Amino acid sequence: MKTDLIYSGKAKDIYATTDDQQIVAVYKDQATAFNGGKKEEVVGKGRLNNLISSLIFEKMEAAGIATHFIKRLSDTEQLNKKVDIIPLEVVLRNITAGSFSKRFGVEEGIELATPIVEFYYKNDDLDDPFINDEHVAFLDLASAEDLAYIKAETRKINDFLKDLFAQIGLRLVDFKLEFGYDKDGHILLADEFSPDNCRLWDADGNHLDKDVFRRGLGDLTEVYEVVLAKLQEVK
Ligand code: TMP
Ligand code: ASP
Repeated sequence: MKTDLIYSGKAKDIYATTDDQQIVAVYKDQATAFNGGKKEEVVGKGRLNNLISSLIFEKMEAAGIATHFIKRLSDTEQLNKKVDIIPLEVVLRNITAGSFSKRFGVEEGIELATPIVEFYYKNDDLDDPFINDEHVAFLDLASAEDLAYIKAETRKINDFLKDLFAQIGLRLVDFKLEFGYDKDGHILLADEFSPDNCRLWDADGNHLDKDVFRRGLGDLTEVYEVVLAKLQEVK
């Protein structure tokens, strides 16, 4: 089914398939942080992220959120609709943490009265710079109408996910999404949703996400196993 390798990312390899509207994403056993500045092989991570991401995409689809997900093919492979990725990292924050706390000099853990959506220009050579809607227009990354849709969709996805994680006792602190255009020009949620691209805190303030790797807090696969097991309990 999968044919040529068309893109090799830090966390996934993307293959063409015999259907020109579908791709296979192969999740890798590699963890990176700081734009690849820190990199390690983490055995089992690819499987965990594929299982978590597939489970979340299935739930999103059932809730009426338009995603690129078609089906999970194996432990590490997912079949996705082919999209043209919009080179934007769309970050939503419910609680202060990470680069937000650093940039604005505020402590981590402050609940934001209104979740904040941020945009970063997805460009490794430039280190994914922080940008606003006017930069998006200048760089011609998306129309004003499409950007408004992406922002509204991100808030809708947040409502859904915040509730999903609350059901398993986890606080969804923040997350990063990527969107793409399908062949008809419709915008679909793409990439992945896993503890690699979100922050999850439990009631005791433990980190159940990639900060365990970024900050050297313990064993990454152990906490990802916990997230998977909890998600599998959700009806
Ligand atoms: P930040 O606080 O480092 O800006 O991260 C915000 C959220 O975005 C956090 O959940 C981690 C996620 N993220 C990615 O998925 N990819 C990235 O390259 C970065 C910097 C953050
Ligand atoms: N995604 C980036 C990297 O892989 C940064 C991060 O997630 O912290 O290097």
